Amino acid sequence: MQFDTPVTNNPIDRLKVVGQPIHRIDGPLKVTGRAIYAYEWHDPKVQCAYGYPVGAAIAKGHIKSMDVSGAKKAAGVIAVVTAPEVGDRKKGKFNTAKLFGGDEVQHYHQAIAVVVAETFEQARAAAALVKVDYTEESGAFDLKQAMQTAVKPESGDPDSGAGDFEAAFRSAAVTLDQTYTTPDQSHAMMEPHASIAAWDGDELTVWTSSQMIDWWRTDLATTLGIDKEKIHLMSPFIGGGFGSKLFLRSDAVLAAFAARAAGRPVKVALPRPFLMNNTTHRPATVQRLRIGAERDGRITAIAHESWSGDLPGGQPETAVMQTRLLYAGANRMTAMRLATLDLPEGNAMRAPGEAPGLMALEIAMDEVAEKLGIDPVEFRIINDTQVDPEKPERPFSHRDLVGCLKLGAERFGWNGRGRPGLQRDGNWLIGTGVAAAFRNNLLLPSGARVRLDREGVVSVETDMTDIGTGSYTIIAQTAAEILGVTVDKVSVQLGDSRFPVSSGSGGQFGANCSTSGVYAACVKLREAVAQKLGFNSEDVLFEDGEVRSGNRSVPLAEAAGPDGLVGEDTITWGDLSETHQQSTFGAHFVEVGVDAATGESRIRRMLAVCAAGRILNPITARSQVIGAMTMGAGGALSEELAVDTRRGFFVNHDLAGYEVAVHADIPHQEVIFMDETDPMSSPMKAKGIGELGLCGVSAAIANAIYNATGVRVRHYPITLDKLIGGLPDVA
Ligand code: MOS
Repeated sequence: MQFDTPVTNNPIDRLKVVGQPIHRIDGPLKVTGRAIYAYEWHDPKVQCAYGYPVGAAIAKGHIKSMDVSGAKKAAGVIAVVTAPEVGDRKKGKFNTAKLFGGDEVQHYHQAIAVVVAETFEQARAAAALVKVDYTEESGAFDLKQAMQTAVKPESGDPDSGAGDFEAAFRSAAVTLDQTYTTPDQSHAMMEPHASIAAWDGDELTVWTSSQMIDWWRTDLATTLGIDKEKIHLMSPFIGGGFGSKLFLRSDAVLAAFAARAAGRPVKVALPRPFLMNNTTHRPATVQRLRIGAERDGRITAIAHESWSGDLPGGQPETAVMQTRLLYAGANRMTAMRLATLDLPEGNAMRAPGEAPGLMALEIAMDEVAEKLGIDPVEFRIINDTQVDPEKPERPFSHRDLVGCLKLGAERFGWNGRGRPGLQRDGNWLIGTGVAAAFRNNLLLPSGARVRLDREGVVSVETDMTDIGTGSYTIIAQTAAEILGVTVDKVSVQLGDSRFPVSSGSGGQFGANCSTSGVYAACVKLREAVAQKLGFNSEDVLFEDGEVRSGNRSVPLAEAAGPDGLVGEDTITWGDLSETHQQSTFGAHFVEVGVDAATGESRIRRMLAVCAAGRILNPITARSQVIGAMTMGAGGALSEELAVDTRRGFFVNHDLAGYEVAVHADIPHQEVIFMDETDPMSSPMKAKGIGELGLCGVSAAIANAIYNATGVRVRHYPITLDKLIGGLPDVA
């Protein structure tokens, strides 16, 4: 199905099942331990061996020699596979650094060996006996230094603009020119990367933890040098990803080589202290914002420049993207510059680009509002735009940022907000902050196969993944709605490369795209049912487990017949996202308390108002947003990968040193969804929500801390050392 015309009415609009607050259909499996995650899969007939990775202990250079004799002699060891031994391997197209193979070291903890033993403990003990001799080369590890020689990236649209920024900025009544920094961040999802690989002749089966089944399968085939069709990849349950599992990772590659060497299935999980340097991270940024406005609050000039670094061949963190679209202003420019860094590979982490970009832009907006003496909610409303400000002929498909800000201000109790540093509650300095949320709505093709069996049960098969987001549930709801059955009549199978290729989970495109693919397949199935019954497919109705046309009505089970019926299709996208800008919007409001003596910040309450098209399931959507708000709290207050700029690695590479926000950090969260649909986004009229929830959160917290203390911190995370010197005198 090609989606190229805005949708009017369709069966989803009945909203008997879609849009209803249905609990996760996979919830019981998860809470009873029956959902099988990658590392847990087992076939009682097969005894898996355990693989333990060895990572490079230098950041850049070559392996001169490796001595694995001690490891090979250790108790229980079955095989040791080294990178020089497997030779130079082609890397997958989605990876910047290679995952395994050859003697070159591109970053610290790049995998250079895997030790296979009878038990996990034996493999780990033996891995410690591997001796490596390196030729070490100097590298660039400090973004502030490397950015001096940063270049314009070759692809990815690094520059944009309209009007004459410099002239307009010079003549603006009020101006701001400030630089903000965001640190390297780690995905830190619960489930580490893990894979089990089993060879049967030249055919490989891999159980893994992947957001994108087809990307992984393709890249694994490339790296192993085998035909993609020979690989069967499964990832039915995933304990979080946040972008860390978008692209093939070393666990799958190591498991495949290890299983081949061991002659039996091998499981490899990346140990937590290994994972943060071995896999990807969100790159640090340096961002300069210049904003010029007239006294009435209208922005006349806005410029956003961002510097980030990555390994050679890598990509910039696209932190300026939202600034191209979020606020009006005739004169504007954005630019991204990329430095070469020899740190581990930077790549996508939840809302890549917008999340760190808004951390800077939305503090800058707060600062300009203050200079103008205009309330920051009002300032954002004044600068709303209904068209792409760089290409005014391009309207937004649907945009209700203003509605989010107004409703949020009302529900949060924004009016009556005090001046910075003046509200007290005992020892706490109290403040409130606001930020806009913005994230684009991306469209990827997505396929599905739907079967109707003789019992009237509908089974959906797609290689879509559920990374904890609720894909199983919203896909069941979609099929149930279109086919007129209840959710308990739908069985959903995901995360298997034998199923049609879906959008996968990423970029907050998964919910809208994968359900649209299921929609397309269900339409095909409806046609097959109608045709079989000789019904005119135009006026046929699927309702209450029956197919109806005129005065005839047939139970679905009967219509399916003994052999059942199948519908399969892929949704593809026309040019509606080119003619119209598709984005999602929101407003975050936060109240903080800052300890007047120590400078410790505590979040007291958070509110998010989101405008993201149709909400397919308010329970799972809310879960996405409160999780994202929690992530934004970590980003504001504690999360930072500390770079050792001499040796080139992230020092705090475990969950003790890398501090994510936890339940105790978040006393009260509220989420409101605007009641809206976007007929240009898909037949579902839905858009993404999972990343929108994060966008702007950290800046709202930063702005609340400023309101509480009068101390403006422009460098994340906002730790107490950055506040304590500027706190008002404790009376
Ligand atoms: Mo997301 S960073 O595209 O998983």
